[in-house]
Amino acid sequence: MRLVWTSDLHLNHVDLRAWDAWVAQVCREGVDAVVVTGDISEAEDVVFQLRRMAESISLPIYFVLGNHDFYGSSIGATRRSVASVTRDLPSLCYLTDASTIELTPGRYLVGEDGWGDGTEGDYENSPVRLNDFVAIEDFRQVDPISWPRLLREQGAQSADRLRQKLLALPESARGVTVATHVPPFRESCWYEGRTTDDLWAPFFVCGQVGAVLKQFAGEHPAIEMTVLCGHTHHAGTAEMAPNLVVHTAAAEYGAPRVERVLEW
Ligand SMILES: [Fe+2]
Ligand SMILES: [Fe+2]
Repeated sequence: MRLVWTSDLHLNHVDLRAWDAWVAQVCREGVDAVVVTGDISEAEDVVFQLRRMAESISLPIYFVLGNHDFYGSSIGATRRSVASVTRDLPSLCYLTDASTIELTPGRYLVGEDGWGDGTEGDYENSPVRLNDFVAIEDFRQVDPISWPRLLREQGAQSADRLRQKLLALPESARGVTVATHVPPFRESCWYEGRTTDDLWAPFFVCGQVGAVLKQFAGEHPAIEMTVLCGHTHHAGTAEMAPNLVVHTAAAEYGAPRVERVLEW
């Protein structure tokens, strides 16, 4: 089983030439499936871009959504239209809306969007305010005082769903790949070869998903956990426990790429 992993495609910034090159690169790898860890495009055309991917690449495409995928709409409405297109196109699988998937005997795939949930770093004193707050209806429509509560709620929902999926793994599971958009730990939140500081961490780490992963890894030492994430656009690997490794993907606007091929 070989999977090609790609992240933060931001296809609304990608011209036809770069798109063709990316499709050719994915197909050249000769893999069995594709995993995309979010920021596919923005709400206006994310469904179009998913259809286009399904029509251009004849492989199962497993994906989660990133914060940019909700720009121009709300989180709930975007998730609903994305889940609905996956009903029409069986090669598309929105992992946030799916249960545990067995890739090969004993090796599973699960996924959750995740959110920079404000649980790491120093939200109160951070001057950072992402475009999320003006571009996503859930944030734009409420008083800024509610923003940290909403961030925390999104992180909690992702963490709860992920916990249920991990607990549904059978006794025979030996490995699980977790696809998510937001790095779940500060140690996996890379920028130019260094990990995040207190001012960026609230928006670039999903601490509640991290806590679920750490607890599950500790309680299931025989299950090898590989986490794939994006969001920072800078690559790095963090070993959080002997059985818990987190890979973060690089990305560049306008130049979608293949991060790596995973093999079992
Ligand atoms: Fe991104
Ligand atoms: Fe992102």
